[in-house]
Amino acid sequence: MAIFLDSGKIEDVRKYLAWGVIRGVTTNPTIFFNDGVTGGVKGMKARAKEIADLIHPYPLSLEVTSNDRGQMIAQALDFASIAENINVKITVHGPQGETENLEVVHELETRHDVRVNCTAMMSGQQCLLAALAGASYVSLFGGRVNNMGYDSREEISRLRRVLDLQGLGAQIIIGSTREVLNVIEWLDAGAHIVTVTPNLIQGMLVHPYTKETVQMFLDDAKKCEQV
Ligand code: E4P
Repeated sequence: MAIFLDSGKIEDVRKYLAWGVIRGVTTNPTIFFNDGVTGGVKGMKARAKEIADLIHPYPLSLEVTSNDRGQMIAQALDFASIAENINVKITVHGPQGETENLEVVHELETRHDVRVNCTAMMSGQQCLLAALAGASYVSLFGGRVNNMGYDSREEISRLRRVLDLQGLGAQIIIGSTREVLNVIEWLDAGAHIVTVTPNLIQGMLVHPYTKETVQMFLDDAKKCEQV
């Protein structure tokens, strides 16, 4: 059971690594864009290398930027060669429902020894297919599942039961965190990993009543010195 950081910001990675609470980092092109990466794929690779070196031996997920079969394979091989702790994110299918992506996942895992994080999944059934194809990680977007009106916890529990029953080794990553509560409820439901945005890790820790209690201790410690 582990928490990954869903961020492309070096300062965030440094911060939560120093806390000792994260066991990996996940990124995608949207995260890189929002976190100020420029220079296209070259810029993404440079940021990925920096993060991968910082967190080694923990894993970093880096997503391909094309849905063309040949380009996905070529880019995955290139990305995997940046650092040995990089795994490559391949979306479960293309933007128009193109279905060759699972073949890419299977080929990368079985013929090229590349660890794949199959991503952008909204159901346990998609995750099951990705796990059968050989993906090392299957990423279900829990917050988006909830936003569609389904209970992500049920999807996670059922998926975990089926993977365990079938002896499939894929690690379930739940991403798309929206609330502090998501982290513990998804781990409790059976996720191997929840990838968390920096603001939510902060929210998990800092509690108003803890602040008040700590202030009481400090004030009373001062009073003890005065008597
Ligand atoms: C997970 O690996 C993804 O990077 C991420 O959690 C997606 O989150 P979003 O739904 O906020 O885009």
